[in-house]
Amino acid sequence: MELEADPSVFDVDFAREQFPFFELDASKEWAFFDNAGGTFPCRPVVDRLTHFYRSNRVQPYGDNPLAAAAGEQMDEGRSVMAELLGVPTETLTIGPSTTQNLNTLSIACAPFLGKADEIIVSEQDHEANIGGWERVARQTGATLHIWPANAKDGELDLADLEELLSKRTRIVCMTHCSNILGTINPVQKIIRLGHSYGARVVIDGVSCAPHSWPDILSTGADVYCFSTYKTYATHLGVMYVASDFLEELTPQCHFFNVEKTGARLDAAGPDHASIAALAGLGEFFQTLHSHHFGASDKTLYRKASEVSALMNQHEMSLCKILLGSLRQLPIRVIGRSSAAGREANVSLVCLAVSSASLASLLAKKGIATKNAHFYAYRLLKKLGVDTDEGVVRFSFAHYNTKDDVTHLVNALTNILGE
Ligand SMILES: Cc1ncc(COP(=O)(O)O)c(C=O)c1O
Repeated sequence: MELEADPSVFDVDFAREQFPFFELDASKEWAFFDNAGGTFPCRPVVDRLTHFYRSNRVQPYGDNPLAAAAGEQMDEGRSVMAELLGVPTETLTIGPSTTQNLNTLSIACAPFLGKADEIIVSEQDHEANIGGWERVARQTGATLHIWPANAKDGELDLADLEELLSKRTRIVCMTHCSNILGTINPVQKIIRLGHSYGARVVIDGVSCAPHSWPDILSTGADVYCFSTYKTYATHLGVMYVASDFLEELTPQCHFFNVEKTGARLDAAGPDHASIAALAGLGEFFQTLHSHHFGASDKTLYRKASEVSALMNQHEMSLCKILLGSLRQLPIRVIGRSSAAGREANVSLVCLAVSSASLASLLAKKGIATKNAHFYAYRLLKKLGVDTDEGVVRFSFAHYNTKDDVTHLVNALTNILGE
């Protein structure tokens, strides 16, 4: 079957050259569509990680050259991440994962929550931005409200949020983009609304960041989180907390570290090498930017945003091909079946074949995907999807090619179309 992709100026071959994985024979055998579970890391990140482990895996910041170099590399990792996001370094907490960061955040909020207070979470969210808040509400006596997802397509209605909001609302938690539906939520509007009631707004950007590089400051979020193992880097969670909110939170670090940059909500002390390797993400965006736009003295944040916009255009051109082909097949797309207002992340259940069988039949044809509830357990329950089987999810990354999606569409048509 011959397929037409939208024209795109993104140089996907050049992008793939930046990933060691695509040098392996295995990469030729697979069209990889489980990127929402984690992307491949780019070369500068892998190189820095390897360098740290080979040469500087010592206690950092000591008075010897090895330890000093380890500390410098970690500082660079933190400062490059701040530059990439266009935020002050001290507003970033770098933890082992977003789940850990959000859990720590919820515990840090507990001292200012009581029986008179209310927290709102969305039913569309990954459990990482629900469970910790539920536990803290139980402990403090605060009321937890669930902003319900629509049972038909999983989407959220702002009018429902408005009904839940009141002057008692202290925290509103929600996802920028659903990891199941791919729907992009109007977070700026929601944040403004939350703020008008005096609430703090916590945004889970994990599913959005790999497709649209975060523009944290213009969202106005009090907290914005994402996971760098899904943005082509090491396995960490990055959490921005606005300075005035950070001041209100009870520190979760050792008492003598409170004034250290990024320490206040760092309850874990994640892998030093992984922090150092984040600097490679800056190099990666620089390389792609100069390849596409030529030399420029723009900030790293602008470069990352411009490159990400190109990546997004490319991914969406491929995603449209998949969405178009699904119309012919006996499946239920979970969420909207159009390309508008979504990221390139498509979930479905099949009418004739279980999700587990479909994922396994696709694997036999060289398509790497997965069936699961992907920790959006409550959303799947609401949508009437069996949580053991879950959905089959096709999540794109910028390094996917037109051949990948052609292969996927042909495999799906072959399995389900006859
Ligand atoms: C939307 C969303 N939020 C949060 C998380 C949790 O991230 P982490 O694995 O870094 O804890 C995930 C992980 O898949 C996710 O997809």
